[in-house]
This record gives sequence, C-alpha cells and structure tokens, in this order.
Amino acid sequence: MHDVSPRILGIESSCDDTAAAVVDGEGRVVASVVSRQLESHRPFGGVVPEIASREHLRNWPAVSAETLERAGLGLDDIDVVAATRGPGLIGSLLVGLSIGRALAYARGLPFHAIHHLEGHLYSPFLHADGSAAEEPPTGFHGLVVSGGHTALYRVDDGEIETLAETRDDAFGEVFDKIGKRLGLPYPQGPRVDELAETGVEGKVELTVARCSDGSLDFSYSGLKSQALIEIERLERAGVDCDLGDAEEAPSAVRALLAGFRAAAIGQLVDRLERLRRTGRAPDLLAVSGGAAANRLMRRRLTAWADEHGIALRLVPLAFSGDNAAMIAHAALLRERRGQRDDPLRVDAASRLPMP
Ligand code: KG4
Ligand code: ZN
Repeated sequence: MHDVSPRILGIESSCDDTAAAVVDGEGRVVASVVSRQLESHRPFGGVVPEIASREHLRNWPAVSAETLERAGLGLDDIDVVAATRGPGLIGSLLVGLSIGRALAYARGLPFHAIHHLEGHLYSPFLHADGSAAEEPPTGFHGLVVSGGHTALYRVDDGEIETLAETRDDAFGEVFDKIGKRLGLPYPQGPRVDELAETGVEGKVELTVARCSDGSLDFSYSGLKSQALIEIERLERAGVDCDLGDAEEAPSAVRALLAGFRAAAIGQLVDRLERLRRTGRAPDLLAVSGGAAANRLMRRRLTAWADEHGIALRLVPLAFSGDNAAMIAHAALLRERRGQRDDPLRVDAASRLPMP
C-alpha cells in the first residue's frame, strides 16, 4: 500500500507540538505522530518557549521511532526529508529543522524547508483514512485559522497570494485569551468552543469588526476587548467567572461565549461574502489550521459554501492542529514542481513571508 515513492519524512516543531510523519508519493499519510507538551506548559497557562525547545529535543527520539514503526519502515526507506522552517518560536524551529537538515545531509537525500502556513494551506486535501491525497486544483482559495494566524490566500499554480491577514490578534489566540481570563486550563480554544456549544446564542451580541479602509483584513483585538468587558460586567453582577477545571459553567458565561464565538466566525463569513459579492467568489475554498476544528466554524462555512455552490474542503480533524503530515505533503507538492532546498544553506526564521 505505502510503496509509492518518494517516501517523505516530515518534521514539525514550530511551537509546542513535536511531530513526525511519513507521506508517500501519492500523498497517503502512512504514519503521523504528534507529541503534545500540554502537561509541561499547563502550570503557566500557555506555551513557554524555553520549555518547548527542550521538550522537542527530549521528545524527538521517541516520536521518530514511533513514526517509522507505525509506517513499518526504517530510515533507509526514506527518500526525501522535509522540516518546518518558520514561522514560529525560533528555539522550537531550530530543533526540528536542524534534525531534518542533518538527516538529509548525512544520507544525501533531497531536502525541503517548509513554510508552516504552506503546510496548513494544502492540508484540507489530505485524507485521514490512509487513502491518497486529493490533487489540489490549479486555482483555489485557502483560509488558514490558527493560534498565530488568520489569513485568506489565493493559490494559482503553486503561487500564493495573500488576500487578507489579521491586523492584530489571531482567531485562535483570542479564544485562548478569553479562556485564560475565565481560568480555563491551557489549551483554552477547544474548551471555549465546547462551552459555547451549550450556550444560548443571541443573548449576547458582539460586533463583527471590519476595517474602515474597506480591506478584507481581519481584526480580533476589538472582539477580545468586548468579551473581556462583558466578563467584568458579569462578575460585577455576581456571576462566578472563574471556571477552572469544572465541567459546568454558569449559563450567563456560556451565553457570552456563544455570542463571542458567533461574532468571531461571523467575521470569517463576512470576508468571504464580500469576496463573493465583489465577483471574486472562490470555486473551491480549503479551510485549515488548528482553529478549523471549531464546530460552529465548520457548520457555518459548510452552510455558506452550500448556499453559493462553492466547493469546500475542511481539513480532517486529524490534521487541523499542528502535525508533520501536512509538512511532508507540502514537500511532495514542491517535489512535483521541482523545487528543493540545500540542507546546508537553509535557516530557521521566526517570521517568514509566504513563499
Ligand atoms: O494550528 P495550531 O495547532 O497551532 C498554530 O499554528 O497556531 O492552532 C492552535 C490554535 C490554538 O489557539 C487553539 O486554541 C485553537 O487553535 N483551537 C481552537 C479550537 N481548537 C483549537 N479554537 C477555537 N475552537 C476550537 N475548537
Ligand atoms: Zn499551525
């Protein structure tokens, strides 16, 4: 099944997840392992860069061994190596990228230094059931929604054009910050989504922000401030807003989170709708990133795409958060375009424009 060359080993370590994967020449995910560092960062309520780098170093031997074991392969069976180059935490990036560079150089293998967001961008074409990846169409739109980024891209023959980006906070970042204010344990985003799911929508209406200059850019800091003010108002009214590990949350807090989540997603739909109304409707929209696990986002975007006859590819939940399958897959697409990097010359970059 997984004998289609080239077999690509992907390495991802841009933030706090240590990940390795093997993807074959047809884009099948042969094995994908992600080691999260949740317990190490939880006491601090968020990712501590210094701890993340050390954990990557510690985790790599077990993660790579398990990946090869699940794939039923040895290192000798690997044809191509790919690692994330940036953007991300520099100390974290350096671990995975250095391992990838060393492996490729020592074994004389082709090497790819991958842009993390390019990995996310093409991830909706992967399948979680071990079947071959879908061939991305020559032209499509991509929405990447994660903890560090909220961006809309147009892809044409491998050329990526940025149509909109966030001007301040990222989508997942505000979910984390609101969750942290409510005392929820790290990572807060998925838990905020869960609580919002049981909240009555429409009780708390928060504003869907737009940029005054008419740009399609995103902005989430205003929404964050509105939600923080609402939390203070609830506290003054005597509502317990320190949720901690509790399964339960007061209905007023859940209603607030429902309103917050609806406004955050409303902004994504607003930008897509404006794109459509100005005659630039996507034929196909590929939605990816850790926050693309959000349930309401998946429902709303499905409804919007259905209504307007737009093809939609939502990233499989197995590959929404950071993973190395998307890195190996982006490398496969670059192999096909004849693009490669010199393992002795690439460097990690915490900030990196889209290629
Ligand atoms: O792509 P990712 O794993 O890492 C980055 O590159 O940022 O995304 C992680 C982000 C975090 O901010 C996390 O809280 C958020 O995605 N996230 C969610 C959900 N699941 C993860 N945000 C909202 N709703 C979710 N269900
Ligand atoms: Zn990511």
